[in-house]
Amino acid sequence: MAISDFNEQEFVEILKKYLSPAKPIGSIERLHGRSRALRDIEKALYADGRNVFIYGDRGVGKSSLAQTAANQYQSSDNKFILVECCPDSTFSSIIKSIARKAVNNSSERIEKITKTKISAKILSYESINKSISDNTLSSFDSIDHASDIIQYVSEIHSERPIVVIDEFDTIKSEEERNLFSSFLKHLGDKDIKTKFIFAGISQTLESLLGAHMSSIRQLETVRLERLSWDARWEIVDDVAKGLGLKIDRNLLIRIAGISDGFPYYVHLIAEKIMWHIFEKNNSCIEINIEDYYCGINKAIDSISPHLKHPYEKATLARDQQYHYVLWSMADAYDLQRNTNNIYKSYVQIMKEINEKALEKPAFLRRLSTLKQKSSEFILTGVYDRKGWYQFRESMVRGYVRLFAESNGIELRAETSDEPKMPTALGREKSSNRAHQSSTYPKGYWRSS
Ligand SMILES: Nc1ncnc2c1ncn2[C@@H]1O[C@H](COP(=O)(O)OP(=O)(O)O)[C@@H](O)[C@H]1O
Ligand SMILES: [Mg+2]
Repeated sequence: MAISDFNEQEFVEILKKYLSPAKPIGSIERLHGRSRALRDIEKALYADGRNVFIYGDRGVGKSSLAQTAANQYQSSDNKFILVECCPDSTFSSIIKSIARKAVNNSSERIEKITKTKISAKILSYESINKSISDNTLSSFDSIDHASDIIQYVSEIHSERPIVVIDEFDTIKSEEERNLFSSFLKHLGDKDIKTKFIFAGISQTLESLLGAHMSSIRQLETVRLERLSWDARWEIVDDVAKGLGLKIDRNLLIRIAGISDGFPYYVHLIAEKIMWHIFEKNNSCIEINIEDYYCGINKAIDSISPHLKHPYEKATLARDQQYHYVLWSMADAYDLQRNTNNIYKSYVQIMKEINEKALEKPAFLRRLSTLKQKSSEFILTGVYDRKGWYQFRESMVRGYVRLFAESNGIELRAETSDEPKMPTALGREKSSNRAHQSSTYPKGYWRSS
């Protein structure tokens, strides 16, 4: 079928089947590039007493991996339990929330249990049920009590229950976060079958869990990196095929490159391109460069404000050079770069747009301004590495790349400052770069 054969409702259904920029994925068919991580998690969960902690940058796909792994592990007699933390969450509020969800999801099973199990169990279940619904009981402060609750959750919920505790990083109190390490040890000792997958934003596990919890043997830790090239392509390729569209390999490479490995951008750009083609109302069978640029521009307009805002703040009411300095910063595979390499990128970009480059000291002054509050701290230094910079939030780098692209500059995506990175694609892309930028209308400047 071609895209012109679908009515709007059919089109939307196909789009939703393949793309979800604002929602984590829970099914293995749609989770690209994570088979090894999934397998490691699966093995860890099958080991007695082991649980999993997934960490990495915002938007890299932690919730999706956690939910897909939970769906894989959870027995079919119930749904896995999902708890999303917030700044005020405490150890006890999370345990209560797990119990409440287990009870709500398990009414049929509870009926069966009450019919078949001995009355002591029913009594225990009732007392647990009462304690979680009783607002005057302010906390389950003993780890022992919490593991009793989880023991009952294990009984009422399902054959193989699993809980996902997401956004763990948002819990303000370090003390509350630390309680989970004693709790996990306790669960292991008591042989309780409910499993836990935690997920949270962090560059390092120690900074989130402290040295103590990050080293306990009850936790398998998974650091999630940006998505591989293949996985980025697959997302776009799948939806294009679903809509009966062909897409040229070069365009796939560009979408994959511009996304910087953050699946959110791949979904968003693909969604905008597909809508553009659908609304053209013609018998399009192949996505072209014009569709691509329309998609990019629409994606920029609808990007989450928290990703857009730092770039706008850092460039607003300042000279154009601030745009170029930020683009230079994002012009490599590496998230952390030293000033020599950033300046090299800058000089190259200025050549491409035919403008005079600043001398290095003036360039460095601007780079340094971008680390300050007036620039929303869009850049930061790198711990223990003088003269190195990174984006405070890696995902903002993706927005910078998107913005540069919408102005006709395709930043390098696979080429690394360090020569050890794969080069085939990098060579192909860098040799194309001058050509690509000259295909874009000259003098076009998109305002932020
Ligand atoms: N492996 C993947 N393959 C395809 N899409 C993904 C993958 N991982 C995440 N996504 C998509 O990327 C977006 C962000 O993912 P999410 O899991 O919410 O990230 P995080 O929890 O790390 O912030 C979501 O729209 C999700 O649908
Ligand atoms: Mg998440």
